[in-house]
Amino acid sequence: MIEAEFWDYDSVDEMADAVAGDIGFIVESAIEARGNALLALPGGKTPVPIYQRLAKAELPWKRVTIIPGDERLVPMDNELSNVRALAKTFLPVGARVIPVTGDIADVKLAGNSADARLQDLPWPPDVVLLGMGTDGHTASIFPGADLEDALNAPKARRMVGVTPDPLPPEAPVGRVTLTRSAILSARTLLIAITGQEKRDLLEQAIEDGHSSKLPIGRVLAEAEQPIDIHWAP
Ligand code: 6PG
Repeated sequence: MIEAEFWDYDSVDEMADAVAGDIGFIVESAIEARGNALLALPGGKTPVPIYQRLAKAELPWKRVTIIPGDERLVPMDNELSNVRALAKTFLPVGARVIPVTGDIADVKLAGNSADARLQDLPWPPDVVLLGMGTDGHTASIFPGADLEDALNAPKARRMVGVTPDPLPPEAPVGRVTLTRSAILSARTLLIAITGQEKRDLLEQAIEDGHSSKLPIGRVLAEAEQPIDIHWAP
């Protein structure tokens, strides 16, 4: 049984204020407890206002490491790169942003090198923030041939390379993604989505759990921690 709580807001701005506030609080608590904080953050449009607010918060940014929850296999200066977007926002405030793609020509090798980079970090992430696509993907765990690889990778594996099928129009390239077990290792698991369509899909995915047709339902079905889902119309 997935333990999920929906937090509803009247607007995207209100949602962004709340989620940025929650992440800021978790960062401060993590630094107080362990001296550093690790955040895994998604790409896409929804989290942009959250990141803008978070970067304005007065936090000990030098102690914060940020990894992408997934990355598109493009050169890092390409505007489709999730790391590029994270770096633009969080490098100026002093956070460390970890690029995860070396080899972009070979999806499986890219997954191996992304995983190797993450193996060097103190684990688990204090926060994994997830978004969701209208096909039910989360991070880059997409429907298609590589779905089971991302879901069932060995527990210690943090990232794998995947080729979504079909390739998503917003970025029609291979990806590296956190695995299900890496996502679920998060100390705090947050989801931020907007719009009624995604809300309905996510509610259904949560109800269906393991038998969900949507990747996010399969991911969350194994969560042992409660999940906060932030939603705005
Ligand atoms: C990515 C993401 C992905 C994203 C969803 C939702 O790099 O594409 O990490 O999982 O969260 O596609 O994207 P939007 O917020 O743009 O709808």
